[in-house]
Amino acid sequence: MYNIALLPGDGIGPEVIKEAKKVLYAIQERFGIKFNFKEGSVGGAAYEVFGAPLPDDTLNLVKDSDAVLFGAVGGPKWDHLKRELRPEQAILKLRKELNLFANLRPAVCYRFLADSSPLKNNIISGNLDLLIVRELTGGLYFGTPRGRENTGQTVRAFDTMVYTSEEIKRVARVAFEAARKRRKKVTSVDKANVLETSKLWREVVDEVSKEYPDVELSHMYVDNCAMQLVLNPGQFDVILTENTFGDILSDEASVLTGSIGMLPSASIGEKGPFLYEPCHGSAPDIAGKGIANPIACILSAAMMLEYSFDEKEAAMCIKDAVEKSLELGYRTYDIKEGEGKVLATSEMGDVIKKIILGL
Ligand code: NAD
Ligand code: IPM
Ligand code: MN
Repeated sequence: MYNIALLPGDGIGPEVIKEAKKVLYAIQERFGIKFNFKEGSVGGAAYEVFGAPLPDDTLNLVKDSDAVLFGAVGGPKWDHLKRELRPEQAILKLRKELNLFANLRPAVCYRFLADSSPLKNNIISGNLDLLIVRELTGGLYFGTPRGRENTGQTVRAFDTMVYTSEEIKRVARVAFEAARKRRKKVTSVDKANVLETSKLWREVVDEVSKEYPDVELSHMYVDNCAMQLVLNPGQFDVILTENTFGDILSDEASVLTGSIGMLPSASIGEKGPFLYEPCHGSAPDIAGKGIANPIACILSAAMMLEYSFDEKEAAMCIKDAVEKSLELGYRTYDIKEGEGKVLATSEMGDVIKKIILGL
């Protein structure tokens, strides 16, 4: 039996988590794997009730679980709060507390969705299958000092980008290991022509690459990478990069797949519990309408089966069911093209569930 902490959060978070849970129940039925779900409060929803975005009860629940499935947090209602109370702190604290230093974000263009990508079909078609390995517990997000100073008329605000060689080494190893199981290419993305942290990043990645002579390493500046991603995404296998660059590049890569509503992620470290979440946020513009694409969250549940539980067959079953639903022409509004069948969030979950159960 696997104990799963479900943290729905805000906006469309609860809407997509509900569908992922539905799909996991279908997996339970088909494969006889037993899931025990416990729900915790996070983000703005937790702030409203407990006055904190990550209450102790939620953190304890998470630490006692085998894996965490996270929806999304944040929204305009809480944007005025000081940084420590903002919903986004919940996910940042979870990553830090659980020491989840590597974030895996696979961007794959499903054959049947090639027309949903804003890129021409001939650029995307069969030409997008990359994995972004984003460093997740360092860099600008966590560096100190940070703050704000008033000096007379002028306000000065500052963040610090800092990396240690150890932090770079451990995430680099995750990228090289992943590449070994794929097409054996790592592109390390940095800004070594300007930043001191990037210079160290490049040196350490070069050093780590000596342990992996079977994997081809190249380096690319982040501005060029942003451009190459839309010019020729097929050149990439594994992209290894630091926290902030990885955040930005993965949103860019998500659109190549058709929509950010398609991109799942796994946040892993040396030991579990690991955390799984869609790459998208709480989407306040569509929250409550029942139209969000649940596939990113459903595929995150598949990553959980694979990375936390080694249930490869069940994970593959979810991925195949997603692909089949697309092949059958089912779409949510964000990936619709032409006259395809546009479903509500819960209907999309139902379709995937039925395919899994062979109904
Ligand atoms: P967002 O990802 O929430 O939304 C960006 C755009 O993509 C919106 O137009 C939205 O409607 C669309 N979109 C996102 N997910 C979708 C889905 N599943 N189906 C269909 N369309 C989808 O990013 P944002 O608007 O910049 O941020 C909104 C809030 O979410 C902010 O408070 C931000 O801090 C937070 N956020 C949280 C997380 C997280 O919890 N991990 C991640 C990103 C942003
Ligand atoms: C993400 C989000 C988070 C990040 C925010 C909400 C803190 O954008 O998971 O991509 O920047 O890491
Ligand atoms: Mn992001």
